[in-house]
Amino acid sequence: MKWDAIVLAAGQGTRMKSKTPKVLHLVGDLPMIERTIKALKSAGSQNIHIVISEDIKLKILYLNEKYENVFFHIQKEALGTADAVLSVKTKLSEKVLICNGDHPLMNSKDIKDFISDLSEFKLSVAYVKLKSPGSFGRIVLNDQGQIKSIVEAKDCNPEQFKIQNVNTGIYFGSSDQIFSCLNELSLQNRDSEFYLTDIVEKSLEQSIKVHCFKTTEEMAFGVNDPVALYQANEKAHFQKNLSLLASGVRFLNPKATYIGEDVEIEPDVYLEANVYIYGKTKIGSGSTIESGVHIKDSLIGPNTIIKSGSYLEQVTVHGESSIGPYARLREGTLVEKHVKLGNFVETKKTTLKQGAKAGHQCYLGDTEVGENTNIGAGTITCNFAVDEKKYRTIIGKDVFIGSDTQIIAPVEIHDNAVVAAGSTVTKNVEANSLYVTRAKSVVKKNYR
Ligand code: UD1
Ligand code: CA
Repeated sequence: MKWDAIVLAAGQGTRMKSKTPKVLHLVGDLPMIERTIKALKSAGSQNIHIVISEDIKLKILYLNEKYENVFFHIQKEALGTADAVLSVKTKLSEKVLICNGDHPLMNSKDIKDFISDLSEFKLSVAYVKLKSPGSFGRIVLNDQGQIKSIVEAKDCNPEQFKIQNVNTGIYFGSSDQIFSCLNELSLQNRDSEFYLTDIVEKSLEQSIKVHCFKTTEEMAFGVNDPVALYQANEKAHFQKNLSLLASGVRFLNPKATYIGEDVEIEPDVYLEANVYIYGKTKIGSGSTIESGVHIKDSLIGPNTIIKSGSYLEQVTVHGESSIGPYARLREGTLVEKHVKLGNFVETKKTTLKQGAKAGHQCYLGDTEVGENTNIGAGTITCNFAVDEKKYRTIIGKDVFIGSDTQIIAPVEIHDNAVVAAGSTVTKNVEANSLYVTRAKSVVKKNYR
């Protein structure tokens, strides 16, 4: 069965009290709308049509590049959810799923359950029973217990207001049928906001059976304000952590650890609290991530310890290494096995070969550090020149760089060389030699 999806995201979102468009607020490490796109895609939708307002166009069009078969449609004025659907003028597949862009906990399993239950119906509504139905639209039934209409909370009479079965805003059915109903509705509602929920009554009027499907509370969870955004985040993070726990990852506190949807962590990794792991990151078995660490888009091999306060982005660590505390590994850092990078070491576009060490306060940029080389405390590679270009430093294996050394790139220091503490290296150093710069020391007796 081929089906497309229409995602409504053109509302003003004023209840969020934020300049960021509502559907771009993050849940986990992904904007809400991306979570919806991913869930729909993995449930099997063909094309995804997202209805937006003109003013968020520039901020959201990046999704076109990131995901295939995602198309945007502009709703000129926020005239209601029915008008939003009619903003999609493209020819759709035979079936269509319509949902709101502010339901970030929608997931592919629940979507599949919903659409597989009712493929023979022309219109089906996903509902859920809530103890506190709040501002949700109420599912009103007729005497035979079949759906009669959906009434928005603000339009309910006191009896209807008590109804606990609510509309999730997720519908599935025949594209032609839904659009023909909406076109008729639009003629009746020319001057005011008109509701997608009215397709229920309209379909029944045309003797089309409407089906109700009971779905999960996750599917129903809509974010309309900052409180709900916080709750969605809490639920999303906790769900991810529970699944990791079940797979053998250990947590000090799974309620205070924040792991993105696509992060992969092998069993027997230990995570302290207040840890943030986001993007396309993988962490190998036997590693420990201490508190206050941020890791994004990185590969961390097995049996590695990342100590407190370290910040790693776009780096590869092969494993068996110790990083931090308070290390900052920036894009393009490659750390081979058995490396030690200590406190306040910053690296960028730098390779540290097996067994290399930089224990204290260093900057290594555009640098290659050979096997078993030791970089002394306070070493700085001066990679950025006055011509505003970056230059490389190549350091061979078994080199000893004394403390407080500045290395003015481009320069090469060959295998087994020694650079004396406090030197400024301005020219290449041959293998096995000593490089030393010393200003003459003077001691003036009885100076004071
Ligand atoms: C809507 C439903 C309600 C349901 C609830 C589930 C209607 C009238 N009400 O209410 O029955 O219980 O969802 O969460 O459909 N949007 C547009 N264009 C518009 C107006 C809204 O694209 O002109 C988009 C919004 O960006 C949002 C979605 O449609 O993503 C729903 O709009 P919202 O105002 O949040 O509706 P609810 O009050 O939540
Ligand atoms: Ca909503």
